[in-house]
Amino acid sequence: MQERVFQELFIFKDACDMIPSVKAALLAVALAGMGATTCAAQTPSVEHGEKLFTDPTLGGAFGTKTCGSCHQDGAGVEFSSEKPNLPKTINMCITRGLRGTPLPMESVEMKSLLLYHESLK
Ligand code: HEC
Repeated sequence: MQERVFQELFIFKDACDMIPSVKAALLAVALAGMGATTCAAQTPSVEHGEKLFTDPTLGGAFGTKTCGSCHQDGAGVEFSSEKPNLPKTINMCITRGLRGTPLPMESVEMKSLLLYHESLK
């Protein structure tokens, strides 16, 4: 799907050079296509949370550590969902452990991580 949009962009390239508005329109279509691809994978789930737990870029982090580096297969966080402020604790580990940026409370990433932590009980 995404590839097809880019092929179309390529075909229209010459015309686009002459008519900037067409170029803008095609770009918008391409971006919308990419957006749709991203959204398709964005429903909170345990599986998504588990993936993020070993994602070195979580929270825009440096990429040297993952949650799993310190909590291998969830070690040490098994009962974290029974404690208050789990989202806050997760964000604390993102900032201090991964040196990333805290996740918004309502984000799919945070919701998925919460689901994953709950699943470890
Ligand atoms: C550099 C090591 C390190 C990294 C990386 C790390 N943590 Fe932690 N985490 C800790 C330490 C240390 C504690 C506090 C020790 C404890 O209470 O067991 C902790 C505690 C926690 C707790 C509270 C556990 C409880 O039951 O009280 C949660 C939840 C947690 N981390 C989640 C995460 C998540 C999610 C990530 C990835 C974003 C992460 N951690 C990355 C070291 C780390």
